[in-house]
Amino acid sequence: MVRVVVVGATGAVGTEVLRILEERNFPVDELVPVASPRSIGRKLEFGGAEVEVAGLRPEVFDGADIAIFDVSEDLSSEWAPVAAERGAVVIDKSSAFRMDDEVPLVVPEINADQVRNRPKGIIATPNCTTTAMVMPLAPLHREWTVNRLVVATYQAASGSGQPGTDELWEQTQLAAKEPEAVREGRAGDVIKGGGTFVHPLALNVLPKCGSVREDGYTSEELKLCHETRKILGIPDLKATATCVRVPVVTGHGVSAHAEFDSDVSVDRAREILAASPGVELADDVDNDVYPTPLDAANQDPCFVGRIRKDLFDDRALEFFSVGDNLRKGAALNAVQIAELLL
Ligand SMILES: NC(=O)c1ccc[n+]([C@@H]2O[C@H](COP(=O)([O-])OP(=O)(O)OC[C@H]3O[C@@H](n4cnc5c(N)ncnc54)[C@H](OP(=O)(O)O)[C@@H]3O)[C@@H](O)[C@H]2O)c1
Repeated sequence: MVRVVVVGATGAVGTEVLRILEERNFPVDELVPVASPRSIGRKLEFGGAEVEVAGLRPEVFDGADIAIFDVSEDLSSEWAPVAAERGAVVIDKSSAFRMDDEVPLVVPEINADQVRNRPKGIIATPNCTTTAMVMPLAPLHREWTVNRLVVATYQAASGSGQPGTDELWEQTQLAAKEPEAVREGRAGDVIKGGGTFVHPLALNVLPKCGSVREDGYTSEELKLCHETRKILGIPDLKATATCVRVPVVTGHGVSAHAEFDSDVSVDRAREILAASPGVELADDVDNDVYPTPLDAANQDPCFVGRIRKDLFDDRALEFFSVGDNLRKGAALNAVQIAELLL
């Protein structure tokens, strides 16, 4: 009898969690969807039946085997320990516990063994952009040992949850009705920012994801660097990133420059990546084969292509990877972790 509680079941990630539990025939005997007070009583489809959304109370975790948290950092910080105390193994999608030494940060294809090491009863899953990058980076690291990483990201609106997706759709529809304004540089008069994103996102790119820290880096950029170090087990990895929001609904892209301890080979990199579970090679640029967010949306693997050697450094590779931020970047990774617990 497996009882699974999904906290945030009505959100962008939570909705995907329910879908993936069904798709993968996860053996759920009882599913308890939990959301904010405004969703209590709402009926969700699951396993051919309707399940009713419950409110967030300590009692919902009684008798739960697994609690998958798809809510904000603040809610996870407060409620994940409550769920763990009541006996559930918590799989948390927020950033609340990712850098906690007593909480493993797990990508099953890379460090599945870490799930057993959970003194707090909590397992964290990485930021969606980190996942899209470490999936191809980890096998290359195993071959040549990475020591330096310079990354630029192209992050989809849905990375900011359902409100981010809704905002991009609204802005895109408004912009499509006003081509003159867009052409004349007055797009900002038609599509206003100020909701999830400060500036208009439609027909634009925003080189700031997350909040800004004292050193000028954003929270998203620091997450990418710190989480990569933890997952790969390289605390002193020199990593730097620029995170950019782009007008894509789903699918985060990452352009990476990775320096290694020894000389690299593009052919060997392709061979390694083609054989890596959860990674799909899309690297035939002469025939216009390379990863794009539209191709990656609703897909399980992370796609990697544009693999080439640095023009000036025989130990450095460039690559571009894309992963569905809601699936492998969040919900799928969590369900894969849950499968390891069975
Ligand atoms: N989106 C991504 O690509 C992505 C990827 C990796 C990790 N994450 C992380 O996953 C978490 C969820 O993100 P999301 O994108 O799914 O956000 P979202 O679409 O905004 O969904 C938030 C969920 O939290 C629920 N909620 C809000 N207040 C609540 C309360 N007081 N009690 C119980 N539930 C409450 C909402 O319920 P209502 O519907 O009732 O408001 C909704 O189900 C975040 O920590 C995010 O950083 C997101």
